[in-house]
Amino acid sequence: MIVYKAMTNDDHAAIMALLDAMPGVKVRDADSFEGFARYLRRNPGLSFAAEEDGAFVGCVFGGHDGRRGYLYHLAVAPTHRRRGIASALVRNALDALAAEGIGKVHIDLLADNADGLAFWQAAGWFERPELVRLSFLPTGNPQG
Ligand SMILES: CC(C)(COP(=O)(O)OP(=O)(O)OC[C@H]1O[C@@H](n2cnc3c(N)ncnc32)[C@H](O)[C@@H]1OP(=O)(O)O)[C@@H](O)C(=O)NCCC(=O)NCCS
Repeated sequence: MIVYKAMTNDDHAAIMALLDAMPGVKVRDADSFEGFARYLRRNPGLSFAAEEDGAFVGCVFGGHDGRRGYLYHLAVAPTHRRRGIASALVRNALDALAAEGIGKVHIDLLADNADGLAFWQAAGWFERPELVRLSFLPTGNPQG
């Protein structure tokens, strides 16, 4: 049976093991233990893991800035795909964001991630061709 739970600091190593080398997900310096702990502290109860027999098989990081919500690092182990696990993870995160009054949520998707795009579009998420994302590196570190 798949169990869904809010992530805690203790989950860092196991979640990073799940994400390690996962196509479609880019793990950055921001995913260090310190970065993970800071993210969960700023966004308590908004990131979820899917667990089966004590092992993580999926996760999503959820957060908001007080105005808009953001999801990161949605991933399901290849052995467990097409069983609705990502859908349930996203539903958990969206419900938790809605409970905090967040009415619009964004994701970033690598442009070559066709499977990811199919997932999000099947769930009703839509592209924003009128927008261009710009980024800036205050520390100068592109891996930040
Ligand atoms: C994208 C991903 C998270 C989907 O996880 P999942 O648990 O298999 O997704 P679900 O079972 O909830 O899929 C729900 C629906 O999305 C669509 N969908 C999911 N994966 C799809 C795929 N590879 N191709 C086409 N449609 C897909 C289908 O409509 C599916 O419903 P169905 O199985 O009844 O046809 C998973 O493939 C993954 O971890 N990929 C690698 C990491 C990644 O790309 N993450 C997204 C980063 S933004």
